[in-house]
Amino acid sequence: MGKNLQLKRIKKLLLLLIIGTVFLACRQAAPSPTGLVTEKAMVVSARVEASRIGSSIMERGGNAFDAMVATELALAVAYPFAGNIGGGGFMVYRQADGNTGGLDYREKAPLLAHKDMYLDSLGNVIPGKSTLGATAVGVPGTVAGVMAVHEKFGSLPIQEIMAPVIQLAEKGVVVTKKQEERLDHYRELFIQVNSDSTFFAKIFKEGDTIKYPALAKTLQKISEQGKDGFYKGEVAQKLAQFIQSKGGFVSVEDLARYEAKWRSPIVFNYKDLTLISMSPPSSGGFTINQIFKMIEPYKMSDYEHNSTKAIQLFTEAARRAYADRNYFLGDPDFVEIPLDQLLNEEYLTERMQNFSFDKATPSDAISHGEVLITESDETTHYSIVDSFGNAVSATTTINGGYGSKLYSDELGFFLNNEMDDFSAKPGVPNMFGLIGAEANSIAAEKRMLSSMTPTIVEKDGKLWMVVGSPGGSTIITAVAQTILNCYEFNMSMQEAVNAPRFHHQWLPDAIIFEPDGFPASLVNDLKKKGYNINEENTPVIGKVDAIKVLPNGRLEGGADKRGDDTAFGF
Ligand code: DON
Repeated sequence: MGKNLQLKRIKKLLLLLIIGTVFLACRQAAPSPTGLVTEKAMVVSARVEASRIGSSIMERGGNAFDAMVATELALAVAYPFAGNIGGGGFMVYRQADGNTGGLDYREKAPLLAHKDMYLDSLGNVIPGKSTLGATAVGVPGTVAGVMAVHEKFGSLPIQEIMAPVIQLAEKGVVVTKKQEERLDHYRELFIQVNSDSTFFAKIFKEGDTIKYPALAKTLQKISEQGKDGFYKGEVAQKLAQFIQSKGGFVSVEDLARYEAKWRSPIVFNYKDLTLISMSPPSSGGFTINQIFKMIEPYKMSDYEHNSTKAIQLFTEAARRAYADRNYFLGDPDFVEIPLDQLLNEEYLTERMQNFSFDKATPSDAISHGEVLITESDETTHYSIVDSFGNAVSATTTINGGYGSKLYSDELGFFLNNEMDDFSAKPGVPNMFGLIGAEANSIAAEKRMLSSMTPTIVEKDGKLWMVVGSPGGSTIITAVAQTILNCYEFNMSMQEAVNAPRFHHQWLPDAIIFEPDGFPASLVNDLKKKGYNINEENTPVIGKVDAIKVLPNGRLEGGADKRGDDTAFGF
């Protein structure tokens, strides 16, 4: 080999070495975890009791699905504000081998329901009828959901999984400060709906222990008889009779006919991530799919976290996505949803054509309907990873805080007011200010549209994150921003969950910010560019519970500081 050729080769090698070093130096180092780190398995949920019970099931050799059953039911005991057997939810899973799926255990409208059921003779919406008391109750789905999960994926006997939950109901749960405040806030409504002899008419203070013997008995029936222990026989009869005696519509037939449904989740790529999230009748997966695809062509990480440009880009994508969400989505078993067209990349690129960093796009230049913003975190999400590598992401709700406030003293649980998630009348907002379209009108046995967004994220084809949140229509933005915080802004899981959030949902045409974390100079900058800012409304936006798989394979929990949320694992 000639000397010149050798020299050339050495030069080339050196050049490659320099390029490689520069490339590595430019890549950000992985952030140090700031949340709980465990070796093998973890549950993050709204209450320490539920996270602990879910984790203990996995320590006994159970998998993430067994832990899901335990966590969901433990939340029904420890967190009656949103945890439930009188409500419903959605779950997305990813098994260790990469297989994914979703479960819809959403409530449905009773057989007696019809399009105009909440309207008076003049066609006006009757205030409160879809939100408070028995008339607001949809057919519950939670017990069918957890039993479907157990049947398909469970590895431990149901009695073994439910034993610690029943014990928790018998021994009782210690009231936290936040719970004391919530119970106090709603006490008058409990009495109004149920009478002053109802269980929650009592005053409970921080540090008190609340025992749930009636709920323990109901759970015992479910433990012995499975799904039928709730949907047929004694519990079903008592439940239907109770709801009807209070003027509601749910019948024994409704209960007997209820089925949870396995559905294919929405799956899409964002750069080198793959997101797996819930499909309709939840709008969550659809809406984050649109948002992520609209921002993908931009280099988000070049903008600072929560900077003017980052907020603009996210806001403009969210504005467009919510406009489509409100118009097109409903229960896919009842309405045709043009998902392929709406999630098509060319269509989404086209939607962002009129976006510019110079000036806000007014919402009335975008599309149909109208939406108002309200604050809320009355749903609950939990995330689970087991030592086998399975992941479960589940969000469950009774809709409002303590649902319809209707409480069965005999059976020991609150009933949902999920019927309000339907559009009772075109143009009239529901309790979250959502104005739906025909696609989400009421019909017997139809599922009401949801914003719940239980999500699992893969990075380079491997499990990377499990994430979700309560928060009504703000669920979607809270989940999307948490993922971006980790991926684009290199935050730890706990930092990503704690970081201040903002929200825009097309109409009304205004950005809301959480209190603190958004300086006046930034707000002024946005105003100058034509953004409307809602300065009176500074609610908490979402309450995220998430898990991230660290580069060394350990798990980092992100338990939202906004609540009593806790990570637990081993
Ligand atoms: O399914 C939905 O979108 C609503 N029922 C969720 C309610 C909720 O998140 C309440 N808490 N904010």
